[in-house]
Amino acid sequence: MNEIGVEALAGVANAVESIEPIPETSGAERVIADVLAIGARVEDAERVRDSVPLWFHTFALAPGIYTPGIARAHGYRLGVLGADRFAGRSVLDVGAFDGFYSFLAEARGARRVVAVDNEQYVDWVRARFGVTLTGGVGFRAVAGLIGSRVEYRRIDALEVRELGERFEVVLCFGILHRVRNPIGLLRALADVLAPGGEIVLETYGSHPAANAPAIEVHEPGEVYARDEFVYWGFSPEGLRRLGRIVGLEEVEVVDELEIDGHPRILALLRAAD
Ligand SMILES: C[S@@+](CC[C@H](N)C(=O)[O-])C[C@H]1O[C@@H](n2cnc3c(N)ncnc32)[C@H](O)[C@@H]1O
Repeated sequence: MNEIGVEALAGVANAVESIEPIPETSGAERVIADVLAIGARVEDAERVRDSVPLWFHTFALAPGIYTPGIARAHGYRLGVLGADRFAGRSVLDVGAFDGFYSFLAEARGARRVVAVDNEQYVDWVRARFGVTLTGGVGFRAVAGLIGSRVEYRRIDALEVRELGERFEVVLCFGILHRVRNPIGLLRALADVLAPGGEIVLETYGSHPAANAPAIEVHEPGEVYARDEFVYWGFSPEGLRRLGRIVGLEEVEVVDELEIDGHPRILALLRAAD
């Protein structure tokens, strides 16, 4: 083989090495999925599962048939997502991806649910796993299966004012650390909150002391290899100050924990009545 051929082969080997294997779904994700058991016919469940090349969320499509989601152990969010949070309320889910939380809100009695995503995940899913997704494919597959009325919009979360409506609950999970302008995102969400409304926020946490008003700044690819979109890690006091900056005085930090070696933080930010 000539030198060019050897180099080309080495290039292919590097490219292959740099792609992560798609992680197996564990029992923990299935337990979370079971809170939204869909109960479809087996043929329909298998068709939907197989129609999407990579799932973010694990859905319980039918008894024993789950989508193989890559999201890890997000069950700690469920404690703040009971029917009391959703029943009769209007809900905005920003960064919805496959829409597990949008569909959960609908199943738990929300009167209207809007799901928003700019489909940034298409880029990092390709970079990390070598899989090219059509934006919204998982969301639409599940929505069709369950006959959901959730409205899906491909827009940036910073542009939610364009929706022209207010929401009693905004779900902002796994996205604040992925935007360049976290104050801009929180301000945009605060602007679409109804009086007395609340943002349920979950994001990447931080290791400095909880009372340090600090935000960690990550190098591209430092948190998840080849994922260039994780910029920040937030401390409780950092989040409280950000809340105050956008006029949300009441910030309750509900939980801080470590998932798969990654710090996470869960908080409620409330608008005045
Ligand atoms: C890590 S996933 C989290 C999905 C889901 N919210 C959850 O926590 O299970 C982040 C999602 O936010 C979306 N996203 C990131 N930045 C966004 C932005 N500026 N506007 C809308 N969606 C965004 C990504 O495309 C992706 O679907």
